[in-house]
Amino acid sequence: MKFCIENFGCQMNEHDAEKMSSLLTRSGMERINEAKDADIVIVNTCCVREKAEQKFYSLMGRLRSLKRRKGVILGVTGCIAQSEKEGIGERLPYIDFSLGPSSIHRITEAVEHAVRKTRFFDFSDNGCTASLVVEPGNPCKRIKAFVTIMKGCNNFCSYCIVPYVRGREVSRDSRDVLREIEDVAEKGAKEVTLLGQNVNSYNKGRDDLPFPDLLKAINRIGGIERIRFVTSHPKDLSPGLIDCFGSLDKLCESIHLPFQAGSDKILSLMNRGYSAEEYLRKIRLLRERCPDIAITADCIVGFPGEGEEDFERTMDLVSEVRFDGMFSFVYSPRKNTAASGLPGAVPREVALERLIRLQAAQKSITLEHNRSMEGRVVQVLVEDRSRNSEDEVMGRTRTNKIVNFRGSPDMVGSLVEVRITKGYANSLRG
Ligand code: SAH
Ligand code: SF4
Ligand code: F3S
Repeated sequence: MKFCIENFGCQMNEHDAEKMSSLLTRSGMERINEAKDADIVIVNTCCVREKAEQKFYSLMGRLRSLKRRKGVILGVTGCIAQSEKEGIGERLPYIDFSLGPSSIHRITEAVEHAVRKTRFFDFSDNGCTASLVVEPGNPCKRIKAFVTIMKGCNNFCSYCIVPYVRGREVSRDSRDVLREIEDVAEKGAKEVTLLGQNVNSYNKGRDDLPFPDLLKAINRIGGIERIRFVTSHPKDLSPGLIDCFGSLDKLCESIHLPFQAGSDKILSLMNRGYSAEEYLRKIRLLRERCPDIAITADCIVGFPGEGEEDFERTMDLVSEVRFDGMFSFVYSPRKNTAASGLPGAVPREVALERLIRLQAAQKSITLEHNRSMEGRVVQVLVEDRSRNSEDEVMGRTRTNKIVNFRGSPDMVGSLVEVRITKGYANSLRG
């Protein structure tokens, strides 16, 4: 049987899709890209903003008619499944199975039920880590491996649905994590990215390696050349972790550190647990320790109660930090979250206008960063052949910037020195 996975959402979700894919492949099924040629279509969902949800429901409309015409098996997994639970089976009566993010390791079972024409649902979240383990033989991304070290989130930022759909924080045992990284290293991985909603609170309150010590242990694993992690919360960015930058040779000079807002009033309403000045202080410490570090972030505009002055504080923070890149979003109310009940909704056109100003400011900062790379020689891990040209390859710098340059496919997987000749808005040429 042929299956296809339509994936939405964050890197955790992408990794979950890879896990389901490897489980189904191991039980003899074949993964293909086109839903129209598949026997089974799995939609792995995200509900972090309303837009993601809308995309899902419009896709389901199309898949429904595919099911009518060809009788494909349809399954819904991921965060929308978890937030709707059994309700998803009522709302979408034509789906065959649905699994929450903590149950994706049961994907083969779910498909087997569907083949026998019985519906299968599992949204339990008992804090077990079975869904986090990479299956042996997972082709994953051969050169760049992703390893989940923890799941869930205890932070309850007032706007965010993630703690409700991914549950409380649970860390995997460091021995299991290290064994898995040794395994992917043996299979040829050069880079490992540690995944979790809030990786720097890994093992908080547990009698196991704290996050900086985990990084040190990974730094000793032969074959691994680069270590990255996402995502970090500013309040848990400890001095011990800051010290790892610049002292662990394999830890890349790059960090994604969402700040969300520059106004202390809004940060407090968001329940973020730090002030703008505390955030800036951590940025200064990171740069003292590691001057070349590339810093990226997420930011929300139009949070309830955000006045023009509050938004100006966000603009100030962005021009002070000069991020290498930033993802910014208009606030989207999510059901059951604390912020959805707050007064002071910002009109959509005001929020959109702020978003445009913010993105324009960031775009020119990113471009300046990229242009300042011109003439420098940097280490690049070659990931793939280029999509645009036969005799080009693409890779990333340690600071996580994309570089396209002349090269042959046999360079894929190697670390090379590249001279940057041009910096663009979203990539570099070398
Ligand atoms: N665990 C990560 C990622 C959370 S979701 C973290 O804490 O950084 C990714 C980003 O989506 C968040 O950083 C935030 O900027 C944005 N986001 C989350 N909920 C949102 C909402 N209700 N409306 C708009 N953006 C939101
Ligand atoms: Fe959501 Fe905040 Fe947790 Fe990130 S830290 S997942 S934004 S609640
Ligand atoms: Fe979306 Fe769930 Fe990730 S809501 S951002 S897929 S944790």
